[in-house]
Amino acid sequence: MINLQFQYKHISAFLSEEEIHLMQDEVDISHSLLVEKAGKGNQFLGWIDLPAKTDEALISSIETDAKTIREKAEILIVIGIGGSYLGARAIIDALSSPFSAFKNDKQNPVVVYAGYNMSQDYHAELLQLLDKKEYAIVVISKSGTTAEPAITFRLLKNHAEKKYGADEAAKRIIAITDNSRGALKSLAQKYGYKTYAIPDDVGGRYSVLSPVGLLPVAIAGYDIRELIRGAGEMRKVCIETPSVTDNPAACYAAIRASLYRLGNQIEILVNYEPSLHYLTEWWKQLFGESEGKENEGLFPAGVDYTSDLHSMGQYIQEGQRMLFETVIHIQKPRRALLIPADETNLDGMNYIAGKTLHEVNNMAALATTLAHIDGEVPNLDIFLPAIDERSLGELIYFFEFACGISGYLSGINPFNQPGVEVYKNNMFALLGKPGFENETEAIRTRINEE
Ligand code: PA5
Repeated sequence: MINLQFQYKHISAFLSEEEIHLMQDEVDISHSLLVEKAGKGNQFLGWIDLPAKTDEALISSIETDAKTIREKAEILIVIGIGGSYLGARAIIDALSSPFSAFKNDKQNPVVVYAGYNMSQDYHAELLQLLDKKEYAIVVISKSGTTAEPAITFRLLKNHAEKKYGADEAAKRIIAITDNSRGALKSLAQKYGYKTYAIPDDVGGRYSVLSPVGLLPVAIAGYDIRELIRGAGEMRKVCIETPSVTDNPAACYAAIRASLYRLGNQIEILVNYEPSLHYLTEWWKQLFGESEGKENEGLFPAGVDYTSDLHSMGQYIQEGQRMLFETVIHIQKPRRALLIPADETNLDGMNYIAGKTLHEVNNMAALATTLAHIDGEVPNLDIFLPAIDERSLGELIYFFEFACGISGYLSGINPFNQPGVEVYKNNMFALLGKPGFENETEAIRTRINEE
């Protein structure tokens, strides 16, 4: 049974029930391409079965390693970029206290991320911090050759070997990479790091329910069994039927495709909980890298409300009419908080005294939806009972499945990312990477001409 609810009652002014159901034939085809693994990119559909195929041996191994690392490390550094870190960060941030870095919680390490940018200041500050802290490293790269995590890992490996000596450093490093290929695999073999494999048929942005996400989440102290259980429940519903009435991911995919065809070019994922900021970043990558091809695709954007109502709210209300919003609602907060009455009432806020802050946040959400509908911004709603492992598992699988169907509805391959190579090749040419000699000459000439 799933707890996630997908609702579209706020789009009736833009799209009729009948128009949604008219998508069913197309959705049937896309659904069957996905579950029968017969569509474009079908060599990367291993993610569909991850929640069902993750066995006890893998889960236990991850939990055992997580326990060892938690005993050793105050800080866990997760090195990776794109699909190799966004999923773990989305889940860990969603479940953590926003102030965990200030808590003296010796049980769980504070998780920091590296190798997702090439900022010298960022990495120099990190190395300086690590001089005084006990730490461990999870380095994640499917290809094992991506520049950002490879450079960062070189810096951190060097630091760890100086601080702990080569043997102890090797015990504090776990590599997650391809089973047989790549530079990271070679490094792991040479230095004896524990490794976990990213299945060949699982691409980076669909890998969060593999060791790529599971190991960092377990080290951070969260329940990966519940995460997998939530994803597994959503999987059952998603693969069972293509019906837009019974399959929420199929329904979401059908509606977003229809809204796109009506001229909406941007989908904004909205949250009212700052802990979901990185869930949005993960979602942006999932949909952006999957759908943005052949000069087509919805542009995935994100906002954190209510804070962004004071920055992007004006544009969303009255700017170009090419937007729709998908709003994530959390039904039950983890903590209780009542707004107190105040004798002087100088701030004029006594009219909400006695309410919870969550009730006020919900009223802000409802008010915003109504305002945005009036401003001709269709709104879709996703309700989760709480921010917990179970709900996040459902939500992640829901988005992954919807993304697969959406890609096939647009006729593209949602499981490749050829466009990402263009900047890399230019960068390798500029840096003089061996094998890029011709490109280096060409790009230097071009720079001089421009
Ligand atoms: O989704 C993807 O495939 C990408 O975002 C990759 O995850 C990202 O580029 C990192 O690649 P790698 O894991 O090979 O270092």
